[in-house]
Amino acid sequence: MSDKERSSSPEFSPFAFGEDLAPLPEYKAAGTTEVDFSGLLGEPLKLHEDLKSGCGGQLWPAGMVLAKHMLRYHQGRLQHARILELGAGGGVVGLTVARGCASLDHPLYLTDMVEMESLMQRNISLNGLDDRVRARVLNWGEPLSQEVLDLKPDTILAADCVYFEPAFPLLMQTLQDLLALVPSATVFFCFKKRRRADMQFLKAARKAFTVAEIEDGDRSVFRKDGLFLYTFTHK
Ligand SMILES: C[S@@+](CC[C@H](N)C(=O)[O-])C[C@H]1O[C@@H](n2cnc3c(N)ncnc32)[C@H](O)[C@@H]1O
Repeated sequence: MSDKERSSSPEFSPFAFGEDLAPLPEYKAAGTTEVDFSGLLGEPLKLHEDLKSGCGGQLWPAGMVLAKHMLRYHQGRLQHARILELGAGGGVVGLTVARGCASLDHPLYLTDMVEMESLMQRNISLNGLDDRVRARVLNWGEPLSQEVLDLKPDTILAADCVYFEPAFPLLMQTLQDLLALVPSATVFFCFKKRRRADMQFLKAARKAFTVAEIEDGDRSVFRKDGLFLYTFTHK
């Protein structure tokens, strides 16, 4: 991919959805909500939601599924992990992991486009997690920053990042760059199928990576809502 292609993140708007798409989650007024994943989080997570910076400003269903999955199945195993979340929005997945893990040796990175940076930071501070979570800009398709290269993330979280077709090759490029950087890394990838094109992303992922559907006690429930949970690893 040329530098020009890599840096041309598409014009993005929560309203840029075709009519064939399932609607976005119900639009809410800005406000703060609390989630504890049926008591899995002792202390609930506070999340400020505000759509003024983009659609990532509110909770999306795949974020809730992936956050709960990480809590139920990985909470005790992430102390030494180098964790980076892509398309974090308000940060529900990464913040849940940071709140749920008793200790983390490395800072956890929430990343998204610049428009989401202040909301990510706000939610980090709202939960008193400034000492273990950092908010950074990471535009898909662009070369990884020196900070990410130095972090060498081995646990990558991505929820509801498949929803805007022009961004598919950019997201794919970033996933490839991350798995080339750390070939032993695992991407935890959750998405909601809203239209047929979304499965094209999965098809491309199957060509590039080893893709495995993950076991989860709630799978029969979230699959009914069109949600899929996978790991991607280096082939
Ligand atoms: C549907 S939201 C999901 C937010 C969150 N992960 C969740 O599940 O609640 C998708 C996120 O991807 C981000 N995003 C879209 N295109 C991007 C790009 N080219 N580079 C980086 N982030 C992008 C958006 O800003 C948004 O926060």
